[in-house]
Amino acid sequence: MNGALVPTLPRSAYVDEGAWQVERERIFARQWVLAGRESDIATAGDFLRTDVAGESVIVVRRDDGQLGAFYNVCRHRGAEIVDTCGASNGSFGALIRCPYHSWTYGFDGALRRTPFMDVPVLDNRLIDETVPIALHPVGVDTWGGFVFVHLTPAQARPLLDQLGAMVERVQRYPLTELRSGATFEYDVACNWKVIAENYNECYHCAPVHPELCDLVPAFRRGGAELGWVDGIPLREGAWTFTSNGTSEREPFEGLDAAERQRHKGELVYPNLLLSLSAEHVAAYNLQPRGPATTHVVCDLLFHPDEIVRTTFDPSDAGDLWDIVNRQDWRICESVQRGMSSRAWTGGWFAPMEDESADISRWYAASMAAVAGSVDDHDRGDAGGFGDGPDDG
Ligand code: FES
Repeated sequence: MNGALVPTLPRSAYVDEGAWQVERERIFARQWVLAGRESDIATAGDFLRTDVAGESVIVVRRDDGQLGAFYNVCRHRGAEIVDTCGASNGSFGALIRCPYHSWTYGFDGALRRTPFMDVPVLDNRLIDETVPIALHPVGVDTWGGFVFVHLTPAQARPLLDQLGAMVERVQRYPLTELRSGATFEYDVACNWKVIAENYNECYHCAPVHPELCDLVPAFRRGGAELGWVDGIPLREGAWTFTSNGTSEREPFEGLDAAERQRHKGELVYPNLLLSLSAEHVAAYNLQPRGPATTHVVCDLLFHPDEIVRTTFDPSDAGDLWDIVNRQDWRICESVQRGMSSRAWTGGWFAPMEDESADISRWYAASMAAVAGSVDDHDRGDAGGFGDGPDDG
């Protein structure tokens, strides 16, 4: 066996329902998770709804301009405040109103009215002041214009601690200012880690991405000699990730000389993938829905000065990204089917897949970090997960 090979996670991490249930608790209930863009909830009452590994969450702009986040569940009899079959963005108007019996809540989550009831609502407590009644809180914070939520806010560490050194690596990109100019959504029949591992290596680029290899010829050799921190060099005459490698849009102000010519990528654990070009940024939000299903939202972010131009047309970037995305999803779904075979018990990362091996190291550490605390974590007002998974 080649000693340079590193084992992948075991088959169970990609295909088993039991492993997925443990991930929900140990990763997605224990870390900051990308929810969306802050610019989509600019005005008091605006909301976005997201799914955090099966937990529906709403984020709302409060009257004081801050953000509030809550489990998407009414304290009366459990109806969803925002129907997950409906829109993922919108406005509550003056109050948050449950569609079932019209209990209403303020944007801070406090219960305001209970129609046709005599019991008083007092300091968010009902009846005898022992029944808490505000919406279940979720942690919320922002970075770079992105909204992150945390299902167990009492145990959350600061968001910037979790984001780590990446923040400095992308500091010259004006992420907070950027706005969505095009959005692509996909339902991909594979485990979310298959997508993350695929994102972090270009060993597959030559067989899977001919158009991308035209733009980055080094990808035909797997890109092993390239440094993602320094940026990926494009072909002669190309300077951004569009169909022809150029654009009418201006590079972002403040980038250094290399960033105006090269492409950068970051995998921000657990569910944000950033692909940074000189004049736009592709931001992927991975929303796992089960061990073999992942909803992916791909937002192409542009400077607002470009979006307001009458000539603004994001299709030069969007066409390329959609091609590359679909190529990735097709091979990722094939990988998922292959991993599901009884013959596959685990595989290997080649030396040029070291970044993917790093995901496995992060994953193992994340899954071990709270081992033993699954069954004794805070189940109070802020938790509310019910029984934790039995991971044996
Ligand atoms: Fe929400 Fe009844 S379930 S008001």
